[in-house]
This record gives sequence, C-alpha cells and structure tokens, in this order.
Amino acid sequence: MRNLFTVILAAGRGKRMKSDLPKVLHAVGGRPMVTFSLEIARSLRSFKTVLVVPKEHDAIDAAVRLFFPETLFAVQEAPRGTGDAVRCALQKSKLGKRGTLLVLNGDMPLISKETARRLVSEHNRVGAAMTILSADHPGLKSYGRIIRDASGSPIGIVEAKDASREQSRISEVNVGVYAFDLEFLTRAISELSTDNKQGEYYLTDMLGIAARGGRRVHAVILDDVTESRGANSRVELNDVNDLYYSRRCRELAAFGTALLGNDVFVDADARVAATATLQAPCFVRGVSVIEDGVFVETGCVVANTRIRKNAHLKASCYLDGAEVGPDCHVGPFAHLRPGTILKKGAKVGNFVEIKKSVVGEGSKASHLSYLGDATIGKHVNIGAGTITCNYDGVNKFKTVLADGVFIGSDTQLVAPVKVGKGAFVGAGTTVTKDVSPYSLAVSRVPQREIPGWAQRRIKKTK
Ligand code: UD1
Ligand code: CA
Repeated sequence: MRNLFTVILAAGRGKRMKSDLPKVLHAVGGRPMVTFSLEIARSLRSFKTVLVVPKEHDAIDAAVRLFFPETLFAVQEAPRGTGDAVRCALQKSKLGKRGTLLVLNGDMPLISKETARRLVSEHNRVGAAMTILSADHPGLKSYGRIIRDASGSPIGIVEAKDASREQSRISEVNVGVYAFDLEFLTRAISELSTDNKQGEYYLTDMLGIAARGGRRVHAVILDDVTESRGANSRVELNDVNDLYYSRRCRELAAFGTALLGNDVFVDADARVAATATLQAPCFVRGVSVIEDGVFVETGCVVANTRIRKNAHLKASCYLDGAEVGPDCHVGPFAHLRPGTILKKGAKVGNFVEIKKSVVGEGSKASHLSYLGDATIGKHVNIGAGTITCNYDGVNKFKTVLADGVFIGSDTQLVAPVKVGKGAFVGAGTTVTKDVSPYSLAVSRVPQREIPGWAQRRIKKTK
C-alpha cells in the first residue's frame, strides 16, 4: 500500500510470561509469535516496517532477520511504555512525514491480514487522525476500555489498571492494533505523559489527545473476537495456541483435507494437501509438506519432513528432517531421523530407526532394525534385526547395499562396508568385509548336533 508504514512493538519486558525468552519469541503455531505481525506488514506491502526491540535483542534479531530481511530495528532503551516505543520508532527509523502508520503489538498473532487491511482502508477512507480496533468482549478484563461520548464517538482508552469500577464494566475493549495519520502522530506524540498507575507512556492515550484536539477518531469493531487474544502469560499463550490450531484445522477442512478427530496440530509453516487424511492426535511441525493422498495415522509426529503422494504412515511414527517417497509405507512405531530419504514404494516397518540414509525404490526394512549412514539401492530386503554398526566410538562410517541385495535376519553390518549387487547375506552374519556381487556371505559357526545329549543331561542331574 502506498504511504503505509508499520511499527511492531516487541520491546516490553513480558514479565507475565515468567521466562527468559523474550515474549514475542514464544511459539504460536510452531514459530515465534512476532513473525505473524511481520507477515501482516508484508502482506499489506508496508513501505517500511520497524520492529521496536529491547536493548538485549540478539535472540529477536536471529529469529527475524533471515525470513524478514526487510525489517528495520529500533531499540527502545528501557520499557517506558507502548507510547515511548512508538516514539522511538519514529525518531530512530526516519519514516515518511506523511502517510499512514499501522501499529501492531508483537504479542497478538491471531490478528488476521484481512482485519489489518480493513483497519487501514477504513482509516484512510474516513480520513481519521487515529483509528483503533476494538472488540466487544467482557471477558478480556486486562484490556483497555474504550470510552465513548454521548454521540457514540470514541474519546479515550482507559487501561484496565487505571479504570474506575464503572469504567471496568465497559465491554468494548482496545485490541492493540492502530492506524495513525503520520503527520498527526509525529506532532502530537510528545503530548503523552506518564501520569498513570504504571508510570508509563501509553500509546492508547493518543486517542484522547486526538479527540480533545478535535481530530477525527474512528473505531473498527472486530468481527471475530478470537483475533483479539494476546499472549501475555503462559496461560494465555496456551489459549492462543489452541485457538491457532483449531483455526488451522477449520481452514484445512474447508480446503478439503480429511481430519479424523480434533487434536490435529498443523504448524504455520507446514502445508497439507487437500486430499490428505490426518488422524488425531497428530502433529505436523515446522516446515513440513504432506502431499495428496497421504494418510497419517494416529500418534504420529511429522517434523520438517516431506511426505510424497499416497504414502501411508501407520500409527505412532516419529519423523524429523526426513523425506518419504510416493507410495511408501512407514510404521507403526518407526523413527526416521534427519537425512533419511525413502524412495518410491519403500517400506519401513515397526521398530525401525533410520538416520542419514537413503532407502532405494521398493526396498524393505520391515522389522526391528537400525540403519545409519547407509546407502541402500533398489529392491533390497533387510531382514529383521539388521543393524548397521556405523560408529566406532569416535567416527561414523558408511554402509552401502547395492540393488537387489538380500540381508538375512540378525545381521550386523560393520561399517565401512559394501555389499555388491544381488548378493545375499545369511542370517546371523557379522559382515566385516565387502561382499562381492551375486555371492553369499555367511559368518556364523556351522551348526553341530549331538544326538541324545539332552537325555544324558537329565540322567546326570538326577
Ligand atoms: C496493551 C494496551 C491495552 C490493550 C492491550 C491489548 C497500552 C498502554 N495498552 O496492553 O489497551 O488492551 O495491549 O493487547 O498500550 N512494548 C514495548 N515497549 C514498552 C512496553 C510494551 O515495545 O515499553 C510492547 C510489548 O512487547 C508488547 C506490546 O508493546 O508487544 C504491548 O505491550 P503489553 O505490555 O503487552 O501491553 P498490554 O498490557 O497487553
Ligand atoms: Ca499484550
């Protein structure tokens, strides 16, 4: 939007969170909550976006810079209130003199882009000095109350801590999203004072300043009050996450995804195709992608993983940093760790752990195995209880199984080791040397039989 600037407030102490992590970095939908505000600014094509940060802001920088490199930072030396924070942004980042300034609290990740857009466009249409977003919600007791005059115009915001008993009964509250005429704000912000219970400069006092100065003030009322929920404490953070994930489920269902049960948690950066099925409870975390026709059964955690078309995850699998090819079957109870790539139609069964390995097309490890640092070709059969011994206590070594290899049950592959194309390894073998193509490797002791041994033993013990 032309002449639109955005300031996001993220320099508060966040004491109510009782945590060393800055409040705005606590996760909602699996990512720092401040990123939701940054995304709003980006979606409105804000010309400049300023994030007001506290003195100690390395962690905030690290969380923001990579994905939102357009962000400008303004340091607020001490948390002297939301009004002081905005003044800092104005002074330090040289925003334009004219235009509209959108101000967002960094702890309100449920505000939708549509709502922010509506606020800005109504503000511009009305030509107001200040436009606030309000919600009619008697439950939000800690929020500022909107004071209106007899004609219904907003004339002030009273913070909950400063409100009289009568004012506390007002159910219209200040959500914490504002649009300002920059010219008005730049000139009038110096009129703020700390004359209140918390001894802070309240941005909310700008409403009274504008109204008293005879400037036009406007309020946009929120349609969906859940958007107004802020995350100031752990309890509120939990509520916000609940609301976030259930909103995401509704969006997915509307899109076509089948969700069986309610406890399906799909993170903000995860994508799920319209014809996928997710069975509760399950988690799709981080930057994951679930493609069409995939079925994820109950109890699965899929983190930073891509699951290609028509793959099936049976119950209780844990996947992190993996890629599951089309038509694969995984689980129940499989553990795919970072760097695992399953090619088309591979099958990984119960109690199999795989790390940093490629399992080729149509290959199978159906039961009880550990495969680490391995490259496994096509149509390889890995018997139950096969272990790659990839670690000597100091270094990691690779195992290579060429196409068509058959590994008998209870085999140890002592890496570095290669098994050539089409070779067989007999059950119970400890493979310590490379196996040539199409041969059989067996290392077990030949079986002996001692006739009548058991009967003699019984006689002896009598
Ligand atoms: C604020 C509003 C309140 C509104 C509520 C809605 C004020 C004075 N009050 O209260 O009317 O109902 O939001 O969520 O604005 N921050 C700074 N620097 C500071 C203080 C705060 O950057 O010195 C940042 C915080 O990091 C936070 C945001 O501003 O992201 C809001 O501050 P917070 O302390 O959470 O205000 P509330 O008490 O929630
Ligand atoms: Ca807040």
